[in-house]
Amino acid sequence: MSEGIIQPDQPEPIEGHAGDKDLFSKFDDIIALREGLLATGQTDPFNLVMEKVLSPTRAICNGRETILLGTYNYMGMTFDPDVVEAGKQALADFGSGTTGSRVLNGTYQGHKECEEALREFYDMDHAMVFSTGYQANLGIISTIAGKGDYIILDIDSHASIWDGCAMGNAEVVPFKHNDIEAMEKRLKRIPEDAGKLVILEGVYSMLGDVAPLKEMVAVAKKYGAMVLVDEAHSMGFIGEHGRGVVEDAGVIDDVDFIIGTFSKSVGTVGGFCVSNHPKFEIMRLVCRPYVFTASLPPSVVATAATSIRKLMHGSNKRAHLWENSKNLHKGLRDLGFKLGTEEPQSAIIAVIMPDLQQGAAMWEALIKNGLYVNLARPPATPANMTLLRCSLCAEHSEEEVGQILDIFEKSGKEIGII
Ligand SMILES: Cc1ncc(COP(=O)(O)O)c(C=O)c1O
Repeated sequence: MSEGIIQPDQPEPIEGHAGDKDLFSKFDDIIALREGLLATGQTDPFNLVMEKVLSPTRAICNGRETILLGTYNYMGMTFDPDVVEAGKQALADFGSGTTGSRVLNGTYQGHKECEEALREFYDMDHAMVFSTGYQANLGIISTIAGKGDYIILDIDSHASIWDGCAMGNAEVVPFKHNDIEAMEKRLKRIPEDAGKLVILEGVYSMLGDVAPLKEMVAVAKKYGAMVLVDEAHSMGFIGEHGRGVVEDAGVIDDVDFIIGTFSKSVGTVGGFCVSNHPKFEIMRLVCRPYVFTASLPPSVVATAATSIRKLMHGSNKRAHLWENSKNLHKGLRDLGFKLGTEEPQSAIIAVIMPDLQQGAAMWEALIKNGLYVNLARPPATPANMTLLRCSLCAEHSEEEVGQILDIFEKSGKEIGII
């Protein structure tokens, strides 16, 4: 009989027993912070509803047409007619869901075609599609780095990377953000014969800054480490073929694994890992977040495959997105806002707010004036900063970027921070 199951002849547990600890008490601080903020009349910045989505750059929010500048929809593929049509066709032909794991009944022709599109996009031997990018990190990291191995990672890594480390049994060794020397120092101290995995991101999404991948990958290789790069925020945009910072830095052939997501430039949902490792396919049998979950619906993999194939020919869109990024960065700096990077390095521009109160007030002023951005606050942010994170889209017109700057100016003056 399983332990922990209450048998019928055992007494029922007594409800409300004195001394019971409310497991929710650990959230009291964040509940108080949230209630304090809302008590000032502030609109909840984490509860916005998109009442109608008009295009990749416009939606109706609170009954008002709003410019979207916080969607990570970098290449604007969500309303691409070919992408939408592929999804409709797959829905009609294959139904609404697979109801199964990839290793049982959940691999359809569409999943294979999506993996084929990824192999072509990255020019790599293997591609494995997960149900989200979060699960791709969780699965690959926890499976390849085991007991006795070491993971060396940037302290500002995404939550899914940290959770992948927590799920596995490797020793986790963080180093200061984007600091090549700090990374080398850590690697030097690790036993020479131990398995090592260095984890980096191409673009760090909080500040929109890029990793010095050329130098970092060289250091990792010097110490015999395998390298995994999460390119969630660069796929489709950075690099000649949109393969990410690894391509731009000329190190794509030196990295062992690239992790990515369909929830940003690809414009749908899902995650993946591509690799040239000769034994990579065994991951399909040993990676728990791949095996023990249902696969993506046919309509989703069909939209993803179509989108990925179109992104292979996206150089005009990439050029326009760079123009948008440069124009917004310069415009915000000229208005007097403090930004996360000196120069635009990606499609993310972070506007640094003095504190949470003013950040939340500015967020509210922007939304009331017709602009949506992401509010990011501690503890998710580096150095406990409050940020208004702007992510540009290749479908934002030059005129829209001008409107965005006008709204920032108006709102900043209303709040009194410029
Ligand atoms: C760097 C990074 N990796 C992974 C993910 C997870 O992607 P997904 O939305 O597909 O779960 C994100 C999402 O924000 C991310 O920013």
